[in-house]
Amino acid sequence: MADQKEKAPKSKMYKNRVALSDDVKQKVVDLMEVPLAASLDMYSQAKFAHWNVKGLNFYQLHLVFDATAKVIFKQIDPIAERITQIGGVANGLVRQSAKYSQIPPYNNEATSGPEHLKSLADSLGAYCKILRETGDAVEEAGDGPSSDFFNQLIVDAEEELYFLESHLEAGDVQ
Ligand SMILES: [Fe+2]
Repeated sequence: MADQKEKAPKSKMYKNRVALSDDVKQKVVDLMEVPLAASLDMYSQAKFAHWNVKGLNFYQLHLVFDATAKVIFKQIDPIAERITQIGGVANGLVRQSAKYSQIPPYNNEATSGPEHLKSLADSLGAYCKILRETGDAVEEAGDGPSSDFFNQLIVDAEEELYFLESHLEAGDVQ
């Protein structure tokens, strides 16, 4: 699924009073940089679809894609701040996201509704997978609360995935 990109370097860490070992904090922060990079990429992909879709169902899809963008946008800031709460640096520059995001690149040749739906659903599916994998990995690393945090994000992101996929099921959107 996700096209494997260059791995981000280890985050710089600040000392704090969060009751986890330095080792666990470093591990958890580095794990959480992956969904941060993906969330910024995902947001711009949903906006790209919102702006550029054409066809008979233009207006409906224009709204659907914007709803997806809004849900993803709301996830960016909390992910970034969970990283800083644990003591890391939120590497959320657009340039960092472009370099390290592991979701697929958007089909920027897409025109019709089905083309945009397919590309956005592929990316959102990969984004949801990253959220699940991050939730599992931080749990395994010893940070249950961060895992709970990702579990909350997954439900909202997968609801958007359901909306996109439900349009594709019918196969008649254009
Ligand atoms: Fe708009």
